[in-house]
Amino acid sequence: MNLDELNKVARAMVAPGKGILAADESTGTIKKRFDAIGVENTEDNRRDYREMMFRTAEAMKNHISGVILYDETIWQKAKDGTPLVKIIEQMGAIPGIKVDEGTKPLPNCPGELITVGLDKLADRLTKYYEQGARFAKWRAVIDIGAGIPSYTAIRTNAHALARYAALCQAAQIVPIVEPEVLMDGDHDIDRCYEVTEFMLKETFQELYYQRVALEGMVLKPNMAVPGKKSAKKASVQEVAEKTVKMLKECVPGAVPGVAFLSGGQSDEEATAHLDAMNKIGNLPWGLTFSYGRALQAAPQKAWSGKAENVAAGQRAFTHRAKMNGLAALGQWKA
Ligand code: 13P
Repeated sequence: MNLDELNKVARAMVAPGKGILAADESTGTIKKRFDAIGVENTEDNRRDYREMMFRTAEAMKNHISGVILYDETIWQKAKDGTPLVKIIEQMGAIPGIKVDEGTKPLPNCPGELITVGLDKLADRLTKYYEQGARFAKWRAVIDIGAGIPSYTAIRTNAHALARYAALCQAAQIVPIVEPEVLMDGDHDIDRCYEVTEFMLKETFQELYYQRVALEGMVLKPNMAVPGKKSAKKASVQEVAEKTVKMLKECVPGAVPGVAFLSGGQSDEEATAHLDAMNKIGNLPWGLTFSYGRALQAAPQKAWSGKAENVAAGQRAFTHRAKMNGLAALGQWKA
């Protein structure tokens, strides 16, 4: 492992004013997004849609440091035959790859999930590196509900994240470590804080046991937010202050950067929260975005699967990328 090189990539992923485009929806997930805009879920449509984003020069060159791809996309070619990975590189962004294989029920833990995909991961990472991937992503899912999460689910998922991260670094790939505590449910912000803190502490302990070099990784956490069905809403300032406090309690300063998931927040909320945290300032790590829905909802709607809407889709993508780029600097204005 060349740690200097891993560190260089990790720092580039969280470069000031830039963040990550999470475009790694599985075929099933992108179907849900396409259904909402009346687009058929074909391989060509998935290619056209993603090509539209990757060719958006203003957004990609100025505000996007890296793109998380799904397995299908990393091998795909644009309409003119250029590999999509090449387009991303030409825009000055780093190609990355989602490597987990989704979730399965965790035995003995009703309602809880374990992320799978460790078997043969070392071989897959070698192939992805050859194809241009310089970072990877693995998402663990922790749900909050009556009697959950269990310690079993937290510990088992943290262990898998750490095993994945160690395998990535051995393959000279920067791991994005994503322990996502879901914002479904009716819990309040303090319950989200408590569960996320537990998950983060356990994750960093497991990373230590697996001898993962923190300088060569990026953390992708959720923010401390109330559940979507919670009666108790939280202000932007409360979310920012509690999330920064939570991260300071849990994330060592050796980690180069933290890139949040949006997790179902609205576009504007996701931007406002990130901006308010960076306005607090004085943080030991870069703090930016690795958004899927909060970057793509607007361009998806504007595009709606029609070739004549590509320019409108690209304008919508540029706008969201720019707003989040400003938020990553604490310079966004509502
Ligand atoms: P959202 O920002 O839509 O939560 O997606 C980010 C992601 O990559 C989840 O794994």
